[in-house]
Amino acid sequence: MDIKELKSMAMEAIFGAKAKATLEEIRVKYLSKKGAVAQLFSGIKDVPPEHRGEYGASVNALKNEIEEAYKAKEAELHKEELDARLKKEAIDLTLPGLSLSKGHRNPYRIIVDEAISIFSDLGFEVREGRDIETEEFNFTLLNVPFDHPARDMQDTFYVDGGLLLRTQTSAGQAHAMVENEAKSPIRMVCPGKTYRRDDDDMTHSHQFGQIEGLLVDKGISLSDLKGMLELFVSRMFGGKREIRFRSSYFPFTEPSVEVDVSCAKCSGKGCSMCKGTGWIEILGAGEVHPNVLRSCGYDPDVYSGFAFGVGIERVAMLRYDIDDIRRIYQNDIRFLRGF
Ligand code: DAH
Repeated sequence: MDIKELKSMAMEAIFGAKAKATLEEIRVKYLSKKGAVAQLFSGIKDVPPEHRGEYGASVNALKNEIEEAYKAKEAELHKEELDARLKKEAIDLTLPGLSLSKGHRNPYRIIVDEAISIFSDLGFEVREGRDIETEEFNFTLLNVPFDHPARDMQDTFYVDGGLLLRTQTSAGQAHAMVENEAKSPIRMVCPGKTYRRDDDDMTHSHQFGQIEGLLVDKGISLSDLKGMLELFVSRMFGGKREIRFRSSYFPFTEPSVEVDVSCAKCSGKGCSMCKGTGWIEILGAGEVHPNVLRSCGYDPDVYSGFAFGVGIERVAMLRYDIDDIRRIYQNDIRFLRGF
């Protein structure tokens, strides 16, 4: 086979190669030690000596051309292969990535934060109470002496040394007054947990939260309390629920009221949640009893005030139409995602 013929055959084969394996076969056929080009080289011995130089040069040129064509084709096939792979393994940037899921605020916390913001706007400071209280602050200073029957209604865990798990955040009132050495006016709220022997049902739990409020100043009357509570309820419920004041009794207030909000479940018609009344109590309140002012170091002839205790879970239930108080503690993520 002459050089020209071999060249056109090799080139045609190389250009037509569609896969690396075919190209490799071509390389072996033409460029390997026993390949066609090597055979041309070894044919030099049959060429007359005067033509050997020219012959050698042309075979060399042929070898270079085939090699170059081979390399170019190899690079082309490599690129094609890479492109195909990239296409196949392409990352779809529009797919959702791995994200860390955020936690959710419990409705309990949402209500506390919102109440704090409402009362802060009204000039109330926020105090932190304590879950473990003394009998003195939980009861005695609040006009509930040792033998008072109201203690039975708020039975709790007692520990040695006159300590107990607080039954009401009202203990925070007594702290605010006793610890105010200047006996100056007070405007404070104190949110926290309370513990009580209670039957657990849709609206009761042995552990629940309250926000205590206390305002002590000169000339404070029940109408101040009423105005403030109306404002609180309308901001908290956005006018969605009706409220009513009911006269009531608490040892530490006189007169005392309870505030009810129309039931979220039946909108006031009466159902199992509101025990057929159409209303759910959310807070107790009243004018601070003179005995309480006196025992906490305030002169009831100079000062008067009002106090209130809001049930946090009750507010959450009414605001978010939650049908069972226990949902608030169960930490079921499907429930919490709703907030
Ligand atoms: N401490 C009361 C309770 O646990 C709620 C309460 C009623 C708080 C009247 C007050 C108040 O501050 O004035 O049921």
